[in-house]
Amino acid sequence: MIFRQLFDSDSATYTYLLGDAVRREAVIVDPVREQAQRDLAVLRDLGLKLVYILETHVHADHVTGAKALKAQTGAAAGVSQHCGASGFDRLLDDGELIVFGDQVLRAIGTPGHTPGSTCYLWRDRLLTGDTLLIGGCGRTDFQLGDAGTLYDSITGRLFTLPDDTLVYPGHDYQGRWVSTIGQEKRTNPRLVNVSRQQFIEMMRNLELPHPKKIAEAIPANLRKGSA
Ligand SMILES: [Fe+2]
Repeated sequence: MIFRQLFDSDSATYTYLLGDAVRREAVIVDPVREQAQRDLAVLRDLGLKLVYILETHVHADHVTGAKALKAQTGAAAGVSQHCGASGFDRLLDDGELIVFGDQVLRAIGTPGHTPGSTCYLWRDRLLTGDTLLIGGCGRTDFQLGDAGTLYDSITGRLFTLPDDTLVYPGHDYQGRWVSTIGQEKRTNPRLVNVSRQQFIEMMRNLELPHPKKIAEAIPANLRKGSA
C-alpha cells in the first residue's frame, strides 16, 4: 500500500494520497487548488495513475484542487450527493465503495459539520475530514451544520469502529498528524463525558471567526473548484 499525508500550511489542510502498490492506481482526498502541482509531482514520483479525486465535504476554507487535477489526469471527481454540488463525476452516498487497483475505500456518511460530510475508510485508516478532528470536531454554525447530527455521526458511526482505527483529520492547527478512534474516545474534550445536549450547547457557544476564504471557497467548491 502507498499512503501519503500532505499539508497545505496556508489553510492547515491535510490532503491524502492512497495508492495500490501493484496496479499503481491512486485516489486523492481533499486536494487544495494551490497545491495541485505538488500533488501531480508526488503522483509522478510514485509512478501512480490518479483515478479518483474525492472530497470529504464542500470546504469553506480552501478551494479544491479537483478541477486542476482532473484536467491533468482525467481522474473522476467525487463528493457526497448530499452536498448540493454540481459538476462532479460521481455523487456518493453512505456505504458506497470506491475501487482503485485492488483496493477498496468505503464512504461513511457522517452529516453534521455539513449535510454532505463523508469519512472514507481504507483498511485500518479513516479519513475524517472535518467531522472528527484530533481533540476537536468541525464547527456547525454555517453550511447547514447541525450539532446534534454531528454528535450522532461521531458517536454512532465513528466511535463504533475498532479503537485501533487510525484517524487522519482534514485539518490540524497544532502540528498533530494522526490519532486513533480509541484515543479520541478517551481524550477528545468535545466528547468525553459530554451528553448530546451538552454537545449542542458547547457547539452553539464556540463563537469562531469565519474562515478567511469562505466567500470564494464555498461557491467554487460547489462546482468542483470552478470559479
Ligand atoms: Fe469544513
